[in-house]
Amino acid sequence: MINSVITKMSKTLVILALLPFAGTAYAETKASKETIRVSKATYTQKAPTRGGTGKIYMDREISQVMGHLGAGWLERSEREREERTDLLVKNLELKPNEIVADIGAGSGYFTFRMAKLVPEGKAYAVDISKEMLAIVKGRIGKFKTDNVIPVHGTITDVKLPENSVDCVLIVDAYHEFSHPREMALSILKALKPGGRLVLIEYRLEDPKVPIKRLHKMTQVQSKKEMKAIGFDWKETRHMLPQQHFMVYLKPDPKAKNTPK
Ligand SMILES: C[S@@+](CC[C@H](N)C(=O)[O-])C[C@H]1O[C@@H](n2cnc3c(N)ncnc32)[C@H](O)[C@@H]1O
Repeated sequence: MINSVITKMSKTLVILALLPFAGTAYAETKASKETIRVSKATYTQKAPTRGGTGKIYMDREISQVMGHLGAGWLERSEREREERTDLLVKNLELKPNEIVADIGAGSGYFTFRMAKLVPEGKAYAVDISKEMLAIVKGRIGKFKTDNVIPVHGTITDVKLPENSVDCVLIVDAYHEFSHPREMALSILKALKPGGRLVLIEYRLEDPKVPIKRLHKMTQVQSKKEMKAIGFDWKETRHMLPQQHFMVYLKPDPKAKNTPK
């Protein structure tokens, strides 16, 4: 009798012990199937180089993500002078009623600056980091800003309404997106036809820019990746001391003169 109770108990224990693994195995199988579907054609893996993930997209190694502990660096007082962030924001040429989105917003350095320029519109702060979004929410409360909307995106989806955004800004974040193809497709979907994507990346062509290699990008690489998604390159402006200011458009089928 005692033996049979022990046997029953141990069977139950074994089942309970295995349950979490059963769940994990299913999730892994599901995830790996999805990964294989995308990665066979899109991503490959190699040994990571310094600061990198080893994941290769269109001949570029994706960098590691900046954690929320980097928020202080993003908000440093010298940033405006070093990177001329004032010129960056001015060159977005925002109109007061525009809907804008800062993807990989971090602490919201650019979101709040954009929000001031679109008093009749709104500024989405999209990030995958709950900690970064908590900083953004704290600033909304502190400054009583009513047109900044924090959005918790995923690594593949910006979670914004389709055809709703006039201008997307990505500053120093695209190179660390773990799924750049899915992210860019999601951004394309969120933009209105004719809407613009302004992509800011440190210039890899310039050895004087004091930033780690994988956190920089060449213009050629950026154009290649955006073309593959269906964006039209419009122009690159050269007023920033360290970064490319690259403007891409979502094609508008109704417009006559869409750039080639
Ligand atoms: C280097 S910080 C730049 C922050 C901000 N753009 C700035 O310049 O002040 C990069 C940010 O991108 C975020 N990030 C990384 N992958 C992301 C993804 N797939 N979607 C949205 N945010 C992402 C990180 O969490 C981090 O906050």
